Amino acid sequence: MTRGASRRDSRGARGLEGRYFTSERVLEAERTTLFRSCWLYAGPARSLRRPGDITTLDHGAESALLIRGEDGVLRGFHNHCRHRGARLCDEDARSLESGRLRCPYHAWTYDLAGALIGAPNMTGVRGFDAAEWGLVPLDLGVWDGLVFLRFGDGAESLEELFAPLAGRFTAWRIPELEVARETTYDVRANWKLVFQNYSECYHCPALHPALNRLTPYRDSENDLEKGPILGGPMRLARAGGTMSADGRRVAPPLGDISGDDLDRVHYFTIFPSLFLSVHPDYVLLHGLTPLAPDRTLIRCQWLFHPDAIAAPGFDPAPAVDFWDLTNRQDWEICQRTQRGVASAAFSPGPYADLESVVAAFDRNYLAAMRRVDDPTADPPHSREADR
Ligand code: FES
Ligand SMILES: [Fe+2]
Repeated sequence: MTRGASRRDSRGARGLEGRYFTSERVLEAERTTLFRSCWLYAGPARSLRRPGDITTLDHGAESALLIRGEDGVLRGFHNHCRHRGARLCDEDARSLESGRLRCPYHAWTYDLAGALIGAPNMTGVRGFDAAEWGLVPLDLGVWDGLVFLRFGDGAESLEELFAPLAGRFTAWRIPELEVARETTYDVRANWKLVFQNYSECYHCPALHPALNRLTPYRDSENDLEKGPILGGPMRLARAGGTMSADGRRVAPPLGDISGDDLDRVHYFTIFPSLFLSVHPDYVLLHGLTPLAPDRTLIRCQWLFHPDAIAAPGFDPAPAVDFWDLTNRQDWEICQRTQRGVASAAFSPGPYADLESVVAAFDRNYLAAMRRVDDPTADPPHSREADR
């Protein structure tokens, strides 16, 4: 791994055309392709640890149900009734105390494994066999305690997706962590602008003076610059610190971390739905869902070890407040960029070498769109676009 900005190379790339951030047609193509074929972040598995725990995840017209079964297995289903299609569950996470899920329309009832176990007045209906009408399953997998699901077909397994990070965060013992705080933001900007913004710290001196004091923007190492997972660590200016309002840790170091990892923060984007920010003492997750070409829902979760949460005087506020402020600074500039790129006179400018990961994001995005034969995808503005 090479330290510093000198290794970075944007390869002469320019940004994406404005329509990628404004066009309904592009979002529709993304929804029917990327967001159906890619693994999408759903939440920490630990938030669904008891039988009957259930939550939902919506992406455009698609909605998923995640249910922990009586047998302890976490399953994913499409969130509609097999009778006439009514949406079964709304957004909130809850627990099905009864061990069953009943459709609000005609009361068809499913067990926690998705089997149809009750269908009033269907007995004797010609050709009806309840065994054929269970909930429609969807792909679900867990990586380091984080649940991912896939609405449609995709060639890649979750293990293949995460191969570049295999074993990387074992020492943090992320599966043991719990959500201490969660905040949702409704950002008036395209989801790709939010990804691009997270992918560089070129903007940090101007936009985040507090953050830039904790992690000087040139003190970063990009070790993944190709494919659907991009990013690398940044060094904390203050040994033994973290990203927080006063730069001090808010909890003991996680798991068995040691050496350099005690003084670094690891930042990765998991295309197309998650930012993973791994601190010495907590993990921050940003889950993204596009709502419109110019609107993105961002769910932010701060994960700590349950022993830290239970400790007297535990207060995650310095970490939460620090990132909430940073988030708002980022959302504001993304919204400002959204307005700018909507101009017919906008044409994409050149990336700095400090934006090499943004250029890599664009390349991966365009390649993913082309892989699914998207007619709206143009070649990127890069001299060496498809390396
Ligand atoms: S639509 Fe669900 S029971 Fe009729
Ligand atoms: Fe930022």
